[in-house]
Amino acid sequence: MAYTISEVNLERQRLLQRIMEPVTDKLLGRLQLPAGIRCLDLGCGMGETTRQLAARLDKSRRVVGVDQDPELIRTASSMVPAGGCPITFEQGDAIYLDFEDNSFDFVFARYLLHHLNDPKKVLAEMFRVCHPEGVVAVQEPDCAKQYCYPGSWAYERIPEIYGRLFANPFVGRELFSLFGQLGCPEPHLDVETIAGVQVELRRSYRMTIEATGSALIEKGILTSDELEELVGEFRRVEEEPGTLCVWSPNFSVWGNPPKH
Ligand SMILES: C[S@@+](CC[C@H](N)C(=O)[O-])C[C@H]1O[C@@H](n2cnc3c(N)ncnc32)[C@H](O)[C@@H]1O
Repeated sequence: MAYTISEVNLERQRLLQRIMEPVTDKLLGRLQLPAGIRCLDLGCGMGETTRQLAARLDKSRRVVGVDQDPELIRTASSMVPAGGCPITFEQGDAIYLDFEDNSFDFVFARYLLHHLNDPKKVLAEMFRVCHPEGVVAVQEPDCAKQYCYPGSWAYERIPEIYGRLFANPFVGRELFSLFGQLGCPEPHLDVETIAGVQVELRRSYRMTIEATGSALIEKGILTSDELEELVGEFRRVEEEPGTLCVWSPNFSVWGNPPKH
């Protein structure tokens, strides 16, 4: 299935990064990474996650960001990193990674697997390219539940809409089991919910519906009138000060690869 989000909106990328940054920082703080690591950020988009990893790792390390979209890789490569260890970006497909076995000590993917038909296969690739003493870590949402208070019909429709749009919208809850099925000796799990009245949380829903609009229409999930109505309702909620927004839960799972 073709990728369904238009990721060219830098404002949306940065918004999502500001929201997700603490969740990823928390994960990074819990990992025990080997020294001198080579790190892979799979499905790196414009490189927000790659730059975050590079900023948190010491300078002796290096990070490679990989994305299937050459346009995003071009944009990511043109951005000056905010310090930290060296970064390179490469175009590539997560399903068949062009790296030798054991090429990395840390293999990371955020918000990639729910877009893919076969997350288990991609996870197996992540384990393959990771050194046995290294760490594989994945962060995914579970789109089944998100809401605002006072409530809105638009938020209630998200599970159905993204349920039809994304290849694996509920992969978050599966991750821990997938790590085990692939032989990860001791997977770790953390589930975190982001909630608050800050407008950025509500804005992210409106912007994501806009970014998926063409795919929603193309796939017959919404008509253009329905899309317009939905965007209008998300915007109304966005502009309602004091409205509490509870994001979809974020599942973080990490562990060592099975011994090859
Ligand atoms: C939602 S974005 C996440 C970007 C970044 N990791 C973050 O969390 O901000 C998902 C990214 O995965 C990329 N992607 C989708 N399918 C892919 C595949 N088969 N191989 C590599 N990248 C892929 C998309 O192009 C997109 O940039």
